[in-house]
Amino acid sequence: MTLRDPDELTIPPDGRPLSEQPRWRRDFPIDIAQDQYVARREFIKFLVLTSFAFVVGQTWILVKSLFRRREHQPQTPIVRLDEIPVGGFVQFDYPASGEPKLLVRLGAQEVVAYDQRCTHLSCPVVPQVERGRIHCPCHDGNFDLVTGRPLSGPPSRPLPRVDLELRDGMVWAIGVTEWMS
Ligand code: FES
Repeated sequence: MTLRDPDELTIPPDGRPLSEQPRWRRDFPIDIAQDQYVARREFIKFLVLTSFAFVVGQTWILVKSLFRRREHQPQTPIVRLDEIPVGGFVQFDYPASGEPKLLVRLGAQEVVAYDQRCTHLSCPVVPQVERGRIHCPCHDGNFDLVTGRPLSGPPSRPLPRVDLELRDGMVWAIGVTEWMS
């Protein structure tokens, strides 16, 4: 087999022009010397398409899980607002029993609620309203009382937040927002 240039086609063995070559050679006129370049190009195309499919799949799963979480979360009355003093808090289970949450009254019409399980190793957290934080006694972790974001200690993710609504003086839980870190 004679090669003129690595980027050029191999001269067919019988020396005849390509138009006189067998059909299979005309249908696939890729030289052996170019074969590795074609394979590399195909491989890169495969990687790009696979990565794209992966991203689309992950996005779809994320969107589905967000909607599913919304669909299946009940709307539950928690407590009447006037039963909690400003600075006080109550514990409740939501969306099901065994899923402890904390509701804290920050002001006349302002309440927040979070998952009571620390995002480090799931110890129960306690509000320290006078210090503007939620404290985890296990490893001295602290979260911001207003946002739920970690302030200090081992936790790196915010506390999941319970979405609340005030209806005729009653505080309702209507969902849980999990934060992406
Ligand atoms: S479990 Fe809360 S800081 Fe470690």
